[in-house]
Amino acid sequence: MEHNYEIFNADSSVQLKELEDNSVDFILTDPPYNLSKYSTGNMKFDWRSDINNDLAEWDKNFDPADFKNEFLRILKPTGNIFAFCSYNLIGRWHEVFDPIFDTFQFFVWHKTNPVPKFRKAGFLNSCELIVCMWNKGHTWNFGKQNEMHNFFESPICMGPERLKKPKHPTQKPVRLLKHLINIASNKGDIVLDPFMGVASTGVAALEMERKFIGIEIDKEYFEAARRRLSQIQPTLFSAINKNKANE
Ligand SMILES: C[S@@+](CC[C@H](N)C(=O)[O-])C[C@H]1O[C@@H](n2cnc3c(N)ncnc32)[C@H](O)[C@@H]1O
Repeated sequence: MEHNYEIFNADSSVQLKELEDNSVDFILTDPPYNLSKYSTGNMKFDWRSDINNDLAEWDKNFDPADFKNEFLRILKPTGNIFAFCSYNLIGRWHEVFDPIFDTFQFFVWHKTNPVPKFRKAGFLNSCELIVCMWNKGHTWNFGKQNEMHNFFESPICMGPERLKKPKHPTQKPVRLLKHLINIASNKGDIVLDPFMGVASTGVAALEMERKFIGIEIDKEYFEAARRRLSQIQPTLFSAINKNKANE
C-alpha cells in the first residue's frame, strides 16, 4: 500500500478476490440491509425531506453467505469482523457465521435523534445492530471489562460531517466507528470496508492511525470517498512510517 489507504470503485464480490490471504486485521463494514421490501412508500413532512425504507437500488438482494469464503480467506487469525446489520438479516448473519467463529455477539448503536414517528404506531427506530465475530486469540483493546458494554450512544451523522453532495442515505458517524476501531484493532492495522459508501470507516481508521482498504460500487460515492480520504492529514502517520522504515 503506497499510501495508508487503497480504495477501489468496484463490486466487492469481485474485488475481494484480489486481496491476499490473511492480510486484513479488521473487517468493519456497513453492507446493504435488504430493507426496501418493507417500504410502505414515502412519508411526507413539511419540515424535512421525505422518508422511505426503500433506501436505494443497492439495498437489495444482499446475502452475507455470499461473502463468507472471501471474508474468511483474507482475515488474519487474530482478526475481527464487525458488520452493521438490520433486524431482518440478523438471523441470516448468525446462521452463516456463528458455526465458523468462536464468538458471535451483537453491539447496539443507540441514536439519540432517530427519525421521528408521528402516527404513534410503534417504536422509534432508534437502535442499529452491529454483529461482531472473532476467534480465540483475536485483537482486543480494553482495560476493564466494565468498559465493554455492547452499547454506544450518539446522534446520527449530521452537521458539517454529513456530506451534502452526494448525500449518502446511511452515512455513519465517525465517532461511533472510532469507538469500534479502537476496541478491535491496533495502530498500524489494516481495516477493510468492502461496502465503503462515502468512506466513513476509512476516515475513522486513518484518524486512528490504522490503514484502510475500501471498496464501493457506486461511482459518485466512490469519488466522494476519495475526496474525503485525501483530506486526512498524512502527518498522522509519520510515526508509523518512521518505525516501519527503521525495522
Ligand atoms: C449501507 S451503505 C454504507 C455507507 C457507509 N457506512 C458510509 O458511512 O458512507 C452500503 C454501500 O455499499 C455499496 N454497495 C452495495 N453493493 C456493493 C457491492 N457489491 N460492492 C461494493 N459496494 C457495494 C452501496 O453503493 C452503498 O454505498
